[in-house]
Amino acid sequence: MADIKLKEDLMGLARKWQESRVFLAACELDVFSRLNDFKSSKALANELGVKERYLDRLLNTLVVLGLLEKKDGMFKNTEVSGRYLDKNSTEYLLGLMHQAHVFYGWALLTDVIKRGVSAKNLPFGKPIENWVEPFITAMQQYASERAPKLIDLIDFSGCKKFLDLGGGSGANSVEVAKRFPEAEVFIFDLPEVIPITKKFVSKTGDFKNIHYLEGDYLKRDLGGSYDIILLSNIIHAHGKDEVERIFSACNKALKKKGKIVVHEFLVDGERISPPWSVFFSINMLVHTENGDTYTENEIKELFEKTGFSFISNTPTGLNSDVVIGEKL
Ligand SMILES: C[S@@+](CC[C@H](N)C(=O)[O-])C[C@H]1O[C@@H](n2cnc3c(N)ncnc32)[C@H](O)[C@@H]1O
Repeated sequence: MADIKLKEDLMGLARKWQESRVFLAACELDVFSRLNDFKSSKALANELGVKERYLDRLLNTLVVLGLLEKKDGMFKNTEVSGRYLDKNSTEYLLGLMHQAHVFYGWALLTDVIKRGVSAKNLPFGKPIENWVEPFITAMQQYASERAPKLIDLIDFSGCKKFLDLGGGSGANSVEVAKRFPEAEVFIFDLPEVIPITKKFVSKTGDFKNIHYLEGDYLKRDLGGSYDIILLSNIIHAHGKDEVERIFSACNKALKKKGKIVVHEFLVDGERISPPWSVFFSINMLVHTENGDTYTENEIKELFEKTGFSFISNTPTGLNSDVVIGEKL
């Protein structure tokens, strides 16, 4: 729990968003791709087609944040900014733009709660363009770090056919395909995502055992005879009714005794811990119709309703849990 004792703590908390807002504005304006050499705010303002004084004040604040250097009135990237924030760098963090996009929904949180609808259903919500690739790239950054740990926690003995439902960037599937070349690995995702998935997968190798399925998992048949189905960070985007439909579809698609693996940001029974998951609940309120974080018990109840017995729940140690069920 945060330690709030003084009125200064309250004032500090109220201002916390400012640093992030300056950083995200700079990412959206793409200043870091243009500051690998010292440049004046006037020269950069001309390049960007914005007013010098406005840009100058932003650049000064980026110096305070440690993201730019300033010498003789000129600005330049720090080593870290040049490495990760310049679009031309091989290590550019495109996934950061996902945070810039979700900010607009979070800015409407008061109205989201007052009206009980997600930000995109508010009349004054800002439509976000070109969000899919930054979103999947952000998922790739998280998933590639978690995948080895996550796959360690699943028993793949005898697994011939594996489905990664809502596989995103394919990081989890790549880990499975590498470790278990005898298993056929299927990545299922939306048609607009699969080309991005293929791009990420092909960067890591040429996997003959990875196959792609395009469609909406709430509408399309998932195929069949799977030994294991992974739902990694999937159910939080859905309300309980939809999760029940998804689990039922998985049950139908699994072999007898097949495993359903739910990798999620779980909350405790009071929904106040761990902090990452509690904040994630807000992200789901803002950005989905009925999405939420779930407790272990809620997942167990949904397993029971859809023909699974509960096997185990293991924390990954990376803000997430792996809950496994077996088809009855
Ligand atoms: C939060 S991401 C998780 C990606 C990946 N499983 C991971 O752990 O990194 C959710 C994924 O589900 C996909 N998705 C969401 N709704 C879907 C639907 N109705 N049908 C198929 N895929 C869907 C998204 O495109 C996205 O790739």
